[in-house]
Amino acid sequence: MRLSLRFIIPLGLALAAIAYIVVPLVDQFTLKWAVRDLDGRSALVANAIQEPLQEYLRTGSRNKTLAFFNKIIQDERLFGLGFCQSGQAQPIATRTYPNNLGCQDLGHFLNQNEHVLPSPQGPLHISVKPIKGDEANLGLLVLVQDMSFIQHRGEETKRYVFYFFIVLGTIISMITVTIAQLSWRGWTQGMRALLRGEGLVRPIGQIKVPELRPIARDLRTLLRDLEAEFHSRDEGQITWTPEALRAILRGELRGENILVVSNREPYVHAHRDGRIEVQRPTSGLVTALEPIMRACSGTWIAHGSGSADKETVDRHDRVGVPPGKPAYQIRRIWLSPEEEMGYYYGFANEGLWPLCHIAHVPPTFRTSDWQKYIEVNRKFANAVAEETKTKDPIILVQDYHFALLPRMIQDRLPEATIITFWHIPWPNPETFSICPWGPELLDGLLGSSILGFHTQFHCNNFLDTVDRLLEARVDRETFSVSYGGKPTAIKRYPISIEWPPASATPADSSGDRRAMLRKRHGLAPDHALGVGVDRMDYTKGILERFLAVERLLELEPGWIGKFSFIQIAAPTRSSIRRYQDFEKDMRAMADRINGRFGTGNYSPIILKAEYHEPTEIYEYYRAADLCCVTSLHDGMNLVAKEFIASRQDEMGVLILSQFAGASRELPEALIVNPYDIDQCAVALHAALTMPAAEQRDRMRLMRSLVREFNVYRWAGRMLLDAASMRKRGHLRHPSDKRQPQADPG
Ligand code: F6P
Repeated sequence: MRLSLRFIIPLGLALAAIAYIVVPLVDQFTLKWAVRDLDGRSALVANAIQEPLQEYLRTGSRNKTLAFFNKIIQDERLFGLGFCQSGQAQPIATRTYPNNLGCQDLGHFLNQNEHVLPSPQGPLHISVKPIKGDEANLGLLVLVQDMSFIQHRGEETKRYVFYFFIVLGTIISMITVTIAQLSWRGWTQGMRALLRGEGLVRPIGQIKVPELRPIARDLRTLLRDLEAEFHSRDEGQITWTPEALRAILRGELRGENILVVSNREPYVHAHRDGRIEVQRPTSGLVTALEPIMRACSGTWIAHGSGSADKETVDRHDRVGVPPGKPAYQIRRIWLSPEEEMGYYYGFANEGLWPLCHIAHVPPTFRTSDWQKYIEVNRKFANAVAEETKTKDPIILVQDYHFALLPRMIQDRLPEATIITFWHIPWPNPETFSICPWGPELLDGLLGSSILGFHTQFHCNNFLDTVDRLLEARVDRETFSVSYGGKPTAIKRYPISIEWPPASATPADSSGDRRAMLRKRHGLAPDHALGVGVDRMDYTKGILERFLAVERLLELEPGWIGKFSFIQIAAPTRSSIRRYQDFEKDMRAMADRINGRFGTGNYSPIILKAEYHEPTEIYEYYRAADLCCVTSLHDGMNLVAKEFIASRQDEMGVLILSQFAGASRELPEALIVNPYDIDQCAVALHAALTMPAAEQRDRMRLMRSLVREFNVYRWAGRMLLDAASMRKRGHLRHPSDKRQPQADPG
């Protein structure tokens, strides 16, 4: 359509030009040129016949003169000849001489330089030349020439001009179309090249001069800003639910199934009391991703760590979950005890875990663990390749157990979109460089299309680390890294929880729940309760929390007998010596404080060092007056958000470590430095005495934030970014004709 317009418009213009400008001009010019030509010819003939004519006139023979004239007009152009002798009215003229041209009419042609005489045969050219004798004028010679040839010549010329302009118009049209095509293709190629960052590069010999790189960068930044603005506007308008997430998958990602890879599986089958029981592990990662997978289906590849896991899978090592209402598949990977020891306990949890959490536990790096880490990452890469149904799947790689996996996947599935999320903090370059295989880990992670962290601080640390340890192109404006191939976008995605949480049971009133839980623990209905819910991990600040309780009772002895702190501590990584020591330390400290302030049935610290179901944990959250999250360092910490989500009564106070990522989002919590025991004790007291109205104000603000920025939004943002990235990829590689089905924005 556009093409034909580009062709027809110049052609139409050319025809209009012929009709209204060229044809009249051709007529005019042909006539002028012919008249000038005839003038010259007449002058020539007049000169040539002047002498014989004088002779005939001298002899006075009219007949001889006429015979002479008839001879001359045998020339086909010379139509007629006449001679008007001075003083005579009738000319001596050939038969062809025009009747309406008497001798008296000749002055008009002689003086006014007129030449054309209309006649029934068509226009005639009249030229009048005076013939002189020896002394006086003899008369006027009249040469009449036929002008019809001018008309023929004009028509012929017009025909040629017409054809000429048709051909010219066609050529111009074709040139216009070709140039338009070339320039459009050139522009789009230029745009693609610009977006790739390699456009408009001027080659000088072998060297490429990036003369317009800044423009390319500005353009990219502009596009990204527009996209970001579009996304955030869009994001704000979406009500983030499982349906919204499914709509993104259907619309933006062509209904692509997603693959999640993590070490921890969302459902563990374990033998207990002679039967198989399903357990939900204590894991922030699982808490966040499980609702996403329920919404999106797909396959979750994870280590099959339960004692009954092998008995519950099919022949492909798959099991549908949630049990009884399967919505997605778990593909279990079996690890040998050596692999588990080297990869999970060793490299991941004795090396990377303390390396990334600044919790003053020195990391341990063993070459044998590193080898197992590589092997297990490769094992998971094989499983990803097996589970992939398309050549460009979307793969969500989770956490520090799989730093090498993104590159391994990229090598096998170059068109895959790999979103890696690092759930724990990223340290500064000095700290990270403790790891002997730091560059290898970075290389592995940079196989990701997108690499996400909870906070901007961790994104910055990562870029600084890459800058320091690798020869990579680090773009701080766009927050991306190019290293050996595709670029990796480094982005902040603060993780969250589902809203409303599945474990929340709004049936009974908060008053009932408070009373019931206290009764179960032999406490008075008005006994003040604090709660902490953690894996039994030295990074969680559990010891510091106990010290703060002790300090509270020292500073405010009125709370003795009236306040208890319930610590739920789920056993974790218990094969690691440091964790075993930690458990001992924790128990010993609780015992010491209880020994110091406990009386009869009263214990200031109630330690529940065992696994609890999520629904039980929610009971504790709801019954408590305050919740303590005092991590020494933490990526996000979802306990903080779970506590908020559980409080439909809008009561309760959150005490939150400034070193947990959650503190960036929840300033209405009482923010503390967990190492400052006095400050934490004061915070405990402030929480216990906080007026109900203030509690409500703070809780409402926090609840609205968690509601709005729930886990569906966390995943949705990553998937939207992945979708944009895939669209940009298609722009760069237009040979891939597949496009998303719809673009809901
Ligand atoms: O917080 C980091 C993390 O890996 C989480 O992602 C996960 O929830 C938690 O640790 C569980 O650790 P593990 O699986 O070793 O018990």
